[in-house]
Amino acid sequence: MHTSSLIGLVAAFSTQVFAACSGPTKIDDFSKWSTKTNSLGEWTSDDSSMSSISATSGVLNFKPKSGSYFYETFPCQAASSKELSAVQFTLKGPSQGSVVVELQTKASCSAASYSSYYTQVTGLTGNSQTITLPFTAFSGANGNAVTGLVWSGFSSNTVTWQLSNIALVCPTSGGSPSSAAPASSRAASSSAAPASSRASSSAAASVSSRAASSSAVSATRVSSSVASSVSRASSVSSARSTLATVSSSQASGTCAPLLIDDWISQSRLTFLFYNSFNYPTSADDSVQSLTVGKPSSNRVEIVPKGDGGYFYSQFPCVDASTKYGGISLRIKAPRGATLSVELDSSDNCDPVAAKTETHSSAELGWTFDGTEKLYSIPFSKYPSLNKAKLTTILFSGFSTTVSFGPMSFYCGNTVSEWVVAPVDGGSGSSSTVAAPPNPSATALVVDKFANANTNAMGNWHGGDDGMTLAYNGGKLTITSPDADYSFYTQVSGTCSDFNKYKGSYLHIAYSGTTKFTVALQQHNQGCNSEVAPFPETWDSADAERYAKNGNIYIPMSHFKVDFSRVIGFALKGFHTTESVTLSSIEIVPSVPAGFAIPPKDDTGTLVFACKRPNSFAFAIDDGIPGFAQDVLKIIREEKIKVTFFTVGAPLLDQGTNLTNVYKEMMSAGHQLALHSFTHPKMESLPDYAAIDWEYNEDIKAMKSQFNGLETPYFRPPFGNEGARMRARLAKAVGPKATITNWSVDVEDWLWAETSTPENQLTAFKRDVAKGGNLVVLHYLYPSTVQYLREFIQIAKATGKDLMRVDQCMEDPAAPPYVKGQ
Ligand SMILES: *[C@@H]1O[C@H](CO)[C@@H](O)[C@H](O)[C@H]1NC(C)=O
Ligand SMILES: *[C@@H]1O[C@H](CO)[C@@H](O)[C@H](O)[C@H]1NC(C)=O
Repeated sequence: MHTSSLIGLVAAFSTQVFAACSGPTKIDDFSKWSTKTNSLGEWTSDDSSMSSISATSGVLNFKPKSGSYFYETFPCQAASSKELSAVQFTLKGPSQGSVVVELQTKASCSAASYSSYYTQVTGLTGNSQTITLPFTAFSGANGNAVTGLVWSGFSSNTVTWQLSNIALVCPTSGGSPSSAAPASSRAASSSAAPASSRASSSAAASVSSRAASSSAVSATRVSSSVASSVSRASSVSSARSTLATVSSSQASGTCAPLLIDDWISQSRLTFLFYNSFNYPTSADDSVQSLTVGKPSSNRVEIVPKGDGGYFYSQFPCVDASTKYGGISLRIKAPRGATLSVELDSSDNCDPVAAKTETHSSAELGWTFDGTEKLYSIPFSKYPSLNKAKLTTILFSGFSTTVSFGPMSFYCGNTVSEWVVAPVDGGSGSSSTVAAPPNPSATALVVDKFANANTNAMGNWHGGDDGMTLAYNGGKLTITSPDADYSFYTQVSGTCSDFNKYKGSYLHIAYSGTTKFTVALQQHNQGCNSEVAPFPETWDSADAERYAKNGNIYIPMSHFKVDFSRVIGFALKGFHTTESVTLSSIEIVPSVPAGFAIPPKDDTGTLVFACKRPNSFAFAIDDGIPGFAQDVLKIIREEKIKVTFFTVGAPLLDQGTNLTNVYKEMMSAGHQLALHSFTHPKMESLPDYAAIDWEYNEDIKAMKSQFNGLETPYFRPPFGNEGARMRARLAKAVGPKATITNWSVDVEDWLWAETSTPENQLTAFKRDVAKGGNLVVLHYLYPSTVQYLREFIQIAKATGKDLMRVDQCMEDPAAPPYVKGQ
């Protein structure tokens, strides 16, 4: 999303001929600067990020410092439809100076979130000059839904810059509201001419930086605040040498803002109930919903119910007395909204026995106007608190839906905000290769969706309960509210030999979303669906990577499965509620000329069963520390070694004691492995950045708590799988990435707390009888722990050797298995 645009672009631009234009739309002439509103009546500000800023006679004068930015927000402009096609402003900066301009656009004016597109303006003259940046300079931006502009990355912090006459303009200079003569823009372009030789190389650099970060930047992380756009600009700058001075604006002097919550993970907030401190945060069901990522990333939307509800976040007894002047956060709320802010302190750091003081939003001087702004909670307004021992912030009485941005303690008495660190989620390779032809391969029509029960081969097709399948005139529309559901279309009732299609392509004709996974499923060795596991495994491809203009072509060779035992295809892991309509699933010998194919992503292996002959593994997911001693005692007495999959965030919360528990388990010879940082459905996450955050934070937590421990074994929370979560796991832990599912489920989640907990035994026996040899259970419930010894004894009675997962996977890095130890 970052392109470099030299001022020279203006010249090429003005030679083109355009249709009539309705005339410029003025964004800001700085006549209303004193109210921080612009000509379109909305918020404009530098959020105190500049050393100095003021406006006189319609000109904004400012002196930036590191991390400074300035922005204009405005009601969404359908600019292109009015023939407006460029952003124009008058700028005076240092000779040969540069600045980054960010254009914020949405998919449409009714969309909730926006994306950011950047252009760097270089080769400034040192004089006042009119700069015209066509929307096309912001590659990918939608000129029909323009909502904001940000200037950042100022090349000099020592001179005073000037900005004026900001407008959206027609494609000819005649439409310019600028007082600067057209000549000055020509002058600017010619003075930038020497730089134009750099254009190609910097464009190349920007393309490669896009390749490296596009999905992280484009999908959700981008659609966020001004502040994070500044830090994103800085992430871009690291990939580009020409962008010198954009930097994250944290840590100035000896004080750095202290983050309370950056709303980075839904599951951290509403599954683990942790904030960024790994301290408790919750609305205790007093509000209707808390939705992370809404309206944009690093935001939480709070929808109240009843009397307005409340929402609190606890701190590690923060001493603000010498450092922090208050708490700031961005809030977006409609005009007239109200809420209250309570702060708690406790002389003995006990958040429950705390002193509280509450002020309404009106008392804090807050007014809302439907746009997102930075608000502060100065501790000076809370005189009764012990500022050396702050324990909790609590918001209550929400009159309406509001959204919060990152919330932090700010340094001193100058209100500043938390700048979200740049995320580089990387991306799948976007390069493509010409698809190799395979004239000898045969074609196969799998599914034409003629009816609900069988496909074109006469085999079964159907979906998991919960998915909506609508057949209509040879088309199937799939809507999936959950990333857990799959649609299957089988190529055989048993094993099918697909070796003849190895060089062919899977072709899916579709319209609608491509945010799903395509999987090729493999039968078990006996081709017997009564034997576990069934399917034995599958490989997954991200439909989006292979889709273009209504067609998905995936080389069959991109599915790493045993082609002699194919069962069929599954469409699964929908990470959208938008639907896809399919008209055909078939295998074809070649792709249309010019259709390029991305390289295969490494997707690790998905296992449901042990590989080592005659082996059996207990793989135990997180539990309650209080049961840990019982579990350890039982497995010690039964003389077996097991694998524990553990969620990362609670390891960092000393209150859980889990790190100590797992240290003890490791020293007893048990294996410890990954289970994500906050336990989300991994494939449901919106983008690579969110998926990577879960893996990387988990890996960091394991390393830091367990003496550098690394492992490629991962158990997917809720057994949720898909192409993206696999590819990103392989990126995070390497090619040995092992997605460890199960073939024996004691169904503790279903039975443990019912009047028939013994059904856990029944389930265990049933799966073992089917040949299952890889267990899932949790030590969350007394009844499960109580049956553990019996589970182990039933497994032993099969004659199999009980061992850790890495041992039963024949991992050469695993410690040797020694029976009876
Ligand atoms: C924490 O776990 C360790 C290791 O299992 C155990 O010895 C200790 O008693 C636990 N501490 C608490 C407070 O439960
Ligand atoms: C794990 O296995 C369960 C039970 O067979 C299944 O429902 C789930 O989809 C599987 N998940 C993965 C990641 O394969």
